[in-house]
Amino acid sequence: MEWGVLLRASDSLTEEIERVRQSALSEIDSVRDAPGLDSFRIKYLSRKGAIARLFDELRNAPASERPVLGKKLNELRSSIQLIFQQKEASLGSLSDRKAPSIDLTLPGRQRWVGTKHPLTQTLEEIRRIFLGMGFRIASGPEIEDDYHNFEALNFSPDHPARDMQDTFFITEKVLLRTHTSPVQIRVMESQKPPVRVIIPGRVYRNEAISARSYCLFHQVEGLYVDRGVTFSELKGTLVSFARQFYGSKIEYRFRPSYFPFTEPSAEMDITCFLCSGKGCRVCKYTGWLEILGCGMVHPAVYRFVGYDPESCTGFAFGMGVDRIAMLRYGIDDIRILYENDIRFLRQF
Ligand code: PHE
Repeated sequence: MEWGVLLRASDSLTEEIERVRQSALSEIDSVRDAPGLDSFRIKYLSRKGAIARLFDELRNAPASERPVLGKKLNELRSSIQLIFQQKEASLGSLSDRKAPSIDLTLPGRQRWVGTKHPLTQTLEEIRRIFLGMGFRIASGPEIEDDYHNFEALNFSPDHPARDMQDTFFITEKVLLRTHTSPVQIRVMESQKPPVRVIIPGRVYRNEAISARSYCLFHQVEGLYVDRGVTFSELKGTLVSFARQFYGSKIEYRFRPSYFPFTEPSAEMDITCFLCSGKGCRVCKYTGWLEILGCGMVHPAVYRFVGYDPESCTGFAFGMGVDRIAMLRYGIDDIRILYENDIRFLRQF
């Protein structure tokens, strides 16, 4: 009878030890943090924990069984202490890494490489071609006086052509230049012939803003003055430019025109490079694109700058860079060139 009871007692303690071992082993796996580990410690290893309770029960076991059960219990305690310490170490190394936590699965930061503005690219190409033909670069102020913007360019005070250039006046005699031609005057004022310059720059006009015109745009002016410069040199220079810029296959034509500061004056057209002259929306079904204004420098201009109109001859031309860039890149609204929209600019 006694044996049976004792047997049951020791059996149940052995079972109990195994149950505690199994549950500790499975619970330790789900411990993820310090509070979790602490609950584990309290549940199993504290003075009122599962192992302490089993040692208490050991006192009720028959003396002959105690050594074996005690050994089993000691073994259980050390193995639970071991898994506890291992867990503690692995959680510790996790929290060590926490400070500068690096998530290696995150996509990297992309560095955007900047691009040149389409106007800059167009200007650079124009500059390159004229530098190759022996021109140098000149520049002048964007805030001009009436004398350089109009008077010295042979616009008399009541000249009707002044109206064509919708001017932003700052005072009665000071204005935002409406074209780059005033720099022709400044260059000739400051040096004797021969002169061979191109003048890229911003110009301003007080026009209604639309897809086709903006209050500011860019021009490249050209000026070549020497002795005996002829109209055929004007044509030769501009045709050479157009073939280098638009392609060797283009056809061209010069139409008579009028500017107060050139005589004779002309406008240069090239065959539309989008439709090869067949006619399309861009060339308004004419097959031709107007690309610049030009002419032989008017003798009156030489008198204003102190050049001798009897011995000097030369030519000048001016082209709109924005229009050229728009044609070149298929841009249908001039305003987008000035909005600095990164989605637009990134395309170039
Ligand atoms: N300045 C003129 C314009 O803005 C263009 C031009 C320049 C014409 C030089 C002839 C010679 O329209």
